Amino acid sequence: MILQRLDHVGYAVEDLNAAVSYHERLYGAEVAHREEMEADGVREALIAVGESFIQLLEPTRDDSPVARWLARNGGPGVHHVGYGVEDVGTTLADLQAKGARVVDEHPRPGSRGCTVAFLHPKGALGVLVELVEDPALVRSTAT
Ligand code: CO
Repeated sequence: MILQRLDHVGYAVEDLNAAVSYHERLYGAEVAHREEMEADGVREALIAVGESFIQLLEPTRDDSPVARWLARNGGPGVHHVGYGVEDVGTTLADLQAKGARVVDEHPRPGSRGCTVAFLHPKGALGVLVELVEDPALVRSTAT
């Protein structure tokens, strides 16, 4: 099995602080990490659920992919699923060889120091899939 773990579920939201408050109030959640990814036009808050995360994503500009997704969807919702893999580069090449359509031709930097690549939802049962290589986990399994 190429997929090692469910790394995160990504929600697109219009108001990050309201989405965090919702999770705090309902589930007693705490934010584990916050980051703004300028290149993607989003800021995120990560809420740990066991060894996985809920990734709340708020667009920082109107032309960002998440802003366009929110407009198409008519509001917030589940935007993508992140699967943990050992090596994004070799996994991406392997999946492309098997005919998977990709959004990212090459691995690129994600949040919290991860390397990521997105697969296209067309041909993937309609789900936007993110491959996530977490260097902290790679290191911990290597030693
Ligand atoms: Co993600």
